[in-house]
Amino acid sequence: MQDQPADPAAAASGTSVRPRRQTRLDSYADRYAERTSGMQASEIRALFAVASRPEVVSLAGGMPNISGLPLDAVAATMSDLVRSRGAEAMQYGSGQGDPTLRSQICEVMALEGIVAHPDDVVVTVGSQQAVDLVTRIFCDPGDVVICEAPSYVGALGVFRAYQCDVVHAEMDDQGLVPAALEQAIEAVAAAGRRAKFLYTIPNFHNPAGVTLSAERRRRVIDICRDADLLVLEDNPYGLLGFDSEPIAALRADDPDGVVYLGSFSKTFAPGFRVGWALAPHAVREKLVLAQESSTLCPPTFSQLAISSYLADFDWKAQVKDFTQMYRERRDAMLAALTEHLPAGSHWTVPAGGFYVWVTLPAGLDAKAMLPRAVTARVAYVPGTAFFADGFGSRCLRLSYCFPTPERIREGVRRLGAVIEAEMELRAAFGVTPNAVGRGYEGPNTDLA
Ligand SMILES: Cc1ncc(COP(=O)(O)O)c(C=O)c1O
Repeated sequence: MQDQPADPAAAASGTSVRPRRQTRLDSYADRYAERTSGMQASEIRALFAVASRPEVVSLAGGMPNISGLPLDAVAATMSDLVRSRGAEAMQYGSGQGDPTLRSQICEVMALEGIVAHPDDVVVTVGSQQAVDLVTRIFCDPGDVVICEAPSYVGALGVFRAYQCDVVHAEMDDQGLVPAALEQAIEAVAAAGRRAKFLYTIPNFHNPAGVTLSAERRRRVIDICRDADLLVLEDNPYGLLGFDSEPIAALRADDPDGVVYLGSFSKTFAPGFRVGWALAPHAVREKLVLAQESSTLCPPTFSQLAISSYLADFDWKAQVKDFTQMYRERRDAMLAALTEHLPAGSHWTVPAGGFYVWVTLPAGLDAKAMLPRAVTARVAYVPGTAFFADGFGSRCLRLSYCFPTPERIREGVRRLGAVIEAEMELRAAFGVTPNAVGRGYEGPNTDLA
């Protein structure tokens, strides 16, 4: 909008004068709600433009690889849906979601030992919206959420948007460390505050690639129960394990203390944007109200499309095909990392999902190294994207879900050369203080 000069004639006649607006890039900058200050483009989004250039091997984005879907058969099911139930599929639906789909969702969750009633399921626009709705109903500005370190960037974005304070709790190869969780809960209590929930991704973690061990699952549930801390279990990758049957969900052990989130984005296709929340009854009621005020109802067409897919296809065989493809890519990445990364680097070994978390040799900073990597035509996500508190600079996330094994090998080869060159540079010129990479150093206790 252009600035309007004040009208002297109108001023003289006593009629109202439109106030002069300053010329600047965003003339509304002074009136956005406080919460927008926490809304920033994620480091991943900023990378997409560069990483999608064909000459760059992108090990950055986490797009599911749906090239194996039988599109002709899916098209036939969709067109049948429009012909036979088009009027219903294109109409508004229930705020809680289609009842048939909710029953089917209960069957999907049964694979992880969950016994649930369709009444307690709320269909959402991807599990991303479920994270948003749960945060909306529980968190006021300044409330605390405990998250693993590192944590899913999309959830951190939601917590920031609702002006929550994130307290991280450390993970290791077995997932969330129970003692670190206890320490985080104590730190919050010592500051006279109370965490609203623990946000956790127990299976095939994004970005850490690790899985919470069976013993720790029990421990985490016990700790949270003792502290009266709600658990938000985010499990979009749970059925994408490489070596095992699906692992029992935290929710299977504690129906009253866990809100469980699931998604069809990784087991079918993300474009439908269908996920869900399974919640204790009273929480479910609040989620439906929040859903209605957000979207009126989740998209009917997408829900019926997913419901038809689950009914008409051998979707479990499709998930097996997906996992085989991802396992092959994971193997290619792990072999290439062993071959090309210099001593002093280490990485996690995922048993499912999409991601490997790499820790660079001491002294390196993944964010500072990124321009060099992109120049060498390989992209990754720097670890700092996955922390609310600026940690993670010595780490990076690699995803193996999308590129072919050949591209993965080439990408990791390029990455290895970039790390070597960065180390040589540091050896030649010395390590500058602000380039010293930091690993994770413990939960943030600065809550005052
Ligand atoms: C841990 C985690 N949670 C939630 C989501 C959101 O998935 P969607 O909204 O597609 O269901 C993602 C997507 O990558 C994820 O990795």
